[in-house]
Amino acid sequence: MPRNIVITGANRGIGLEMTRQAAAAGDRVVAICRDPSAFPEGTGAAEVLAADVTDEDALAAAAQAAGPVDLLVCNAGQLRGRGGVDADGYSAENWQASLMTNVAGPFLTVRAFHANLREAGGKIAVIASIMGSSARAPGGAYSYRASKAGAVNLAQNLAKDLAAEGIAVGAYHPGWVSTEMGGGGADLTPEESAAALLTRFDVLGMETTGVFEDYRGEAIPF
Ligand SMILES: NC(=O)c1ccc[n+]([C@@H]2O[C@H](COP(=O)([O-])OP(=O)(O)OC[C@H]3O[C@@H](n4cnc5c(N)ncnc54)[C@H](OP(=O)(O)O)[C@@H]3O)[C@@H](O)[C@H]2O)c1
Repeated sequence: MPRNIVITGANRGIGLEMTRQAAAAGDRVVAICRDPSAFPEGTGAAEVLAADVTDEDALAAAAQAAGPVDLLVCNAGQLRGRGGVDADGYSAENWQASLMTNVAGPFLTVRAFHANLREAGGKIAVIASIMGSSARAPGGAYSYRASKAGAVNLAQNLAKDLAAEGIAVGAYHPGWVSTEMGGGGADLTPEESAAALLTRFDVLGMETTGVFEDYRGEAIPF
């Protein structure tokens, strides 16, 4: 049976490819992006809605338009600043953007779509990163690592909170993927990563809620 899937940050990269593949598989995909005019033609998305994931009003309007949601994919993310303590890129403004998009963003998205998820008995996938693992903390990329650790923590707490409603929540590392964020030398294409992630979301359920795993299903230490 076709599912209703909502994906944030859907206009490029992994989000765009998940949109394409889920739509091709027959699902009804609502693609959320900051600028719908940047959304490419021919993806098969049922609807393209505008929302920055830090904008509560826009998220509420998108949720109003979306109907019951079987799968919410919190994919929108930003990477600002990569080096050591003294590297450029760690301005207060960049920290704010990283934390707002990567941590508050998934939270505000889940909150906006809570009723839609409840209606469908849906589930939530938070696209985090292995860089959010505190057990594997090699240094560098401070604002990104801290924000993705926050996203993993958020998914854990949401998993506990939403269990009573039968809403499963997982946090995922998509691999190192050749997107604008991942760059040219990455291990995976967006097509490979999206296909693997969608398979992982299929097996997310109440028995596995709270997982933090990569695109192959390998558990990542918190
Ligand atoms: N690529 C990798 O190797 C890799 C590895 C680990 C985790 N990830 C995670 O995977 C997810 C997708 O990354 P990607 O590689 O596909 O990156 P990408 O190509 O840079 O795409 C990022 C997407 O997020 C959107 N976005 C950014 N800030 C937003 C906001 N405030 N509100 C709504 N949308 C926003 C962007 O929209 P605009 O076009 O409007 O900017 C874009 O659609 C991210 O969460 C990222 O952290 C990626």
